[in-house]
Amino acid sequence: MEHGLADPLGAGRVLVTGARGQLGTALREVFPGADAADVAELDVTRPIALGYAPDLVLHAAAWTDVDGAEDDEAAAARVNVEGTRNVAALGAPLVYYSTDYVFAGAKTEPYVESDTAEPLSAYGRTKLRGEAEVRDGWIVRSSWLFGWTGHNFVRTMLRLGAERDEVRVVADQRGCPTYVGHLAAATRELLSRPGGIWHVAADGEATWAEFAEAIFADAGLDCRVVPITTEELGRPAPRPAYSVLRSERAGAPRLPHWREGLRECLARLRA
Ligand SMILES: NC(=O)c1ccc[n+]([C@@H]2O[C@H](COP(=O)([O-])OP(=O)(O)OC[C@H]3O[C@@H](n4cnc5c(N)ncnc54)[C@H](OP(=O)(O)O)[C@@H]3O)[C@@H](O)[C@H]2O)c1
Repeated sequence: MEHGLADPLGAGRVLVTGARGQLGTALREVFPGADAADVAELDVTRPIALGYAPDLVLHAAAWTDVDGAEDDEAAAARVNVEGTRNVAALGAPLVYYSTDYVFAGAKTEPYVESDTAEPLSAYGRTKLRGEAEVRDGWIVRSSWLFGWTGHNFVRTMLRLGAERDEVRVVADQRGCPTYVGHLAAATRELLSRPGGIWHVAADGEATWAEFAEAIFADAGLDCRVVPITTEELGRPAPRPAYSVLRSERAGAPRLPHWREGLRECLARLRA
């Protein structure tokens, strides 16, 4: 995967898949000239006929329902594995977004690109198999995405924090909450680097409970966070206890701290 576009800012004809997802929405802002398609216009599980040859594909379409994938791994694989195969068949270099959930979470220091991936969940398995479909391009592993649209932890906490006096939040999973605006900007930076796997996540780390506390503090919501365990929450899909991502590669984009991402996201939601 020897890439590195000579002129990343003028990458030619760029296609964004999953363009109405939370990351796709941020990518459209950073790549304003891109062709944007979501499932209604371009279902990646079907053979893709565009009528033109893109020069670059930012592949943000995915099955992202982590718990739902436990019940129907085949359906998740149709989108995350076969869908990625169909997108790769377009022949253009690809940016494939992958996840910290490809790791088991047994480490106590950050996961780097050369660490062995051992997903615990069906979602993690399908995303890892999707990575193997990328022959030419960049595999961008990120984590705990949040933005101003779609389903994400920040929007859920803002809703619950306005309705309740307290919320129970998991305090035994640790990761890097990453703002989609920062990930989209880092994607543009990455295009002048060689291809292959890159870990691209926010600076800093937190548990979900710490993240919730910061959301309530910054949003001025008077809601108490009651820390609970993963076991108490009892979600169907197992998740890594520790999945902080860092890059060991020269020239890796450095993202701002997640607190800065949270401030930018809240400002965007207020506007
Ligand atoms: N969210 C996270 O915390 C996280 C963490 C690490 C990595 N990632 C990866 O980052 C990427 C973007 O995630 P995100 O949070 O932006 O997800 P998202 O908001 O769920 O967006 C995914 C988009 O893909 C669309 N889609 C689903 N099936 C499709 C299909 N068959 N064909 C075309 N589009 C389809 C979805 O449409 P519908 O909404 O209509 O289904 C949605 O608009 C994904 O690859 C994800 O695995 C996410």
